Amino acid sequence: MRILIACEFSGVVRRAFRARGHDAWSCDLLPAEDGSEFHLQMDAIAAVFAREWDLMVCHPPCQHLAVSGARWFKDKAKEQEAALEFARSLLNAPIPRIALENPISIISSRIRKPDQIIQPWQFGHGETKATCLWLKNLPKLVPTNIVEGREARVHRMPPGPDRWKERSRTFTGIAEAMADQWGNHEGAA
Ligand SMILES: C[S@@+](CC[C@H](N)C(=O)[O-])C[C@H]1O[C@@H](n2cnc3c(N)ncnc32)[C@H](O)[C@@H]1O
Repeated sequence: MRILIACEFSGVVRRAFRARGHDAWSCDLLPAEDGSEFHLQMDAIAAVFAREWDLMVCHPPCQHLAVSGARWFKDKAKEQEAALEFARSLLNAPIPRIALENPISIISSRIRKPDQIIQPWQFGHGETKATCLWLKNLPKLVPTNIVEGREARVHRMPPGPDRWKERSRTFTGIAEAMADQWGNHEGAA
């Protein structure tokens, strides 16, 4: 399958799909952290139209959308509208199968409710981080490895310029589940 992983600098989801033989490409305004040749450093909407894709997994920025930042909402109405418009454009992209991932965010109230909320502890990581999935022609992810740990690691991360990267990097267990469960799914398109 031709797969676009939009808004991914880490390559975690791209590598999971490529390991299963797919023609998967990541795309981000930033360069690929792993220096991969299978990365498009460009705007995600431009990448959507750059070629035909069978599946897109996208991780749009959440800093203006996440409910955890609600106390700042009144100061950033414009940024919030732009972020919502970006998420809406990704969800409406002309690609037969789409998964959009975001934390608990105002996408739920302003666009639509998520199809599923998953946790890293359902996929082998002993951590909590509610992650919403909006799905088009894809099945809900089935947990692969429910573990006991329930730590909110994010709160222990030291401050610094790269903190957001560590917070936003996709968990490998979730990436593996996406590649296993969505990589060969024909969907209802
Ligand atoms: C929440 S982070 C997602 C990180 C991802 N989970 C990973 O493991 O790399 C959002 C990413 O969207 C990227 N981004 C923001 N605006 C973008 C745009 N218009 N087109 C492509 N990427 C964009 C940011 O640079 C950032 O890396």
